[in-house]
Amino acid sequence: MQSKIKSLKKDVLSALASAKTEEEVRDLEIKYLGRKGPFSEIMRGLKDLSDDEKRTVGKLANMTKIELETAVHAKFAELEGAMMDQIADTEWMDITVPGKKPRVGHRHLISKFIDDLEIIFGRMGFQVAEGPDLETEHYNFNQLNIPADHPARDMQDTFWLKNLKDSVLRTQTSPVQIRYMEANEPPIRIVSMGKTFRKDSDATHSPMFHQCEGLMVGENISIANLKAVMTQALQQIFEDASIKTRFRTSYFPFVEPGLEIDCTCPICGGVGKLPDKTPCRLCKQCGWLEISGAGMVHPQVLENVGYDSKKLTGFAFGMGLDRMVMIKYRVNHLRLLFENDLRFIAQF
Ligand code: PHE
Repeated sequence: MQSKIKSLKKDVLSALASAKTEEEVRDLEIKYLGRKGPFSEIMRGLKDLSDDEKRTVGKLANMTKIELETAVHAKFAELEGAMMDQIADTEWMDITVPGKKPRVGHRHLISKFIDDLEIIFGRMGFQVAEGPDLETEHYNFNQLNIPADHPARDMQDTFWLKNLKDSVLRTQTSPVQIRYMEANEPPIRIVSMGKTFRKDSDATHSPMFHQCEGLMVGENISIANLKAVMTQALQQIFEDASIKTRFRTSYFPFVEPGLEIDCTCPICGGVGKLPDKTPCRLCKQCGWLEISGAGMVHPQVLENVGYDSKKLTGFAFGMGLDRMVMIKYRVNHLRLLFENDLRFIAQF
């Protein structure tokens, strides 16, 4: 019996030594050390032995079984270790390699400019109002004193919607004036920035462009207020306190009088020449830039929204933003603003 145990031990140890996978080891464990294995059998057979043999054989069998169990666990550990070594060899990564910096986007130059304008006008008490890009003829034209047969409709080459009656891509931000006055009581101080659309497309015109509308309505609002607000705003926009404004008469159906606002050229400082005496190309040497349409809100427009035109007055202005962005950031082609070429956009 004792020699049987010893030879069992030898068998198990040599089988373990040549086992290559955890599965093989598990099979060996079950086969030799399991409930139906030879050791269990030996233990069951102890009862037929003499007391003396019982003691020695039992002890030897027990000791051997424990030894073999230890060997099995050691083999498991060895195989697992080898597997981890292999993973470490094949699936390693060098955590000291510097990471790739993700490319983080930012707001487009025009969006940033619009944000700046909101802050500049906000400091003067103007709230931001919004209106839809897809407008009705009613708001884009009629309420602004431009009926269907009015020649002023030709001033703006309009995109009409084919399948949606009386609908246009707004040609101006002025309909926001109407929408806001209809929904709010005076006094009013708002600006509204956004996209506008006209069938215009060449080197200096894009069919989609941006405007900033301003509206201030209350008692005793005058052109002097318009002058103060526009001068302040332009000085802050171009970050140049020497900028001056001048008004010329003009015509828009929804204001009376209608005005064109010019400001001194931010490039040459209104001199017409650059410091090196070369002619200023931006203002074509005249020292002034046309910057905004404006005027005193037409009494009829106030009446259209249910305001009392005998008590209230107001000014409105509407300026194109794209050219201002080009001037401020020295962008020499309009198309750069809309092509979304990252080499350009990432510069700002
Ligand atoms: N809406 C006019 C345009 O687009 C500009 C403007 C706005 C003029 C407000 C006067 C007052 O041409």
